[in-house]
Amino acid sequence: MRRDILSRLHGYRYEHSLGVERCAIALAKKYGGDPALAGAAGILHDITKHLSPQEQLNLCEKYGIIPCTVEKSEPKMLHGKTAAAIARREYHMPDEVCDAIACHTTGRAKMTILDKILYLADYIEETRDFPGVEKARELAETSMDRALLYCYDQTLIELITRGKLIHSDTIAAYNDMIRQGVRWRDEEKA
Ligand SMILES: [Fe+2]
Ligand SMILES: [Fe+2]
Repeated sequence: MRRDILSRLHGYRYEHSLGVERCAIALAKKYGGDPALAGAAGILHDITKHLSPQEQLNLCEKYGIIPCTVEKSEPKMLHGKTAAAIARREYHMPDEVCDAIACHTTGRAKMTILDKILYLADYIEETRDFPGVEKARELAETSMDRALLYCYDQTLIELITRGKLIHSDTIAAYNDMIRQGVRWRDEEKA
């Protein structure tokens, strides 16, 4: 099955997906997740990312996914949900893997350990190279929640800077961390 999944990934996405798999397994071992499920979520999470906006919408139609107004405007955002549908229907992955894949693009409130592992692994895996990735890796050494909030902050700042739409699940994810008292800046640490 792993070979079949990998045959659907090409170029940078192939390397990235293997990087996410490795990183997700390491995070699972470190933070008490299931390494096998984390690895599976890692290689499957971007399985539909190469598809066009129209193809994303076609898959939504096929699998009964109802896009929100933001997703209708930015159908590429749907690749988490469409990949989750493929993981469930074609690879018979358990709910927790599919749920983690479904929310890896936006985050969501009340993330499970597996959701957090995949979201973080997607952000910090070894092939990632962008301003801020080192800080996220450093925070992930000691706290998934602090690293996660850092990722949300950076994502929100970037979306606002670029004048892009913000998905309501991303705001819910951010608010959830803040409400729990999570902070990533040292001076704010409780
Ligand atoms: Fe993705
Ligand atoms: Fe990814």
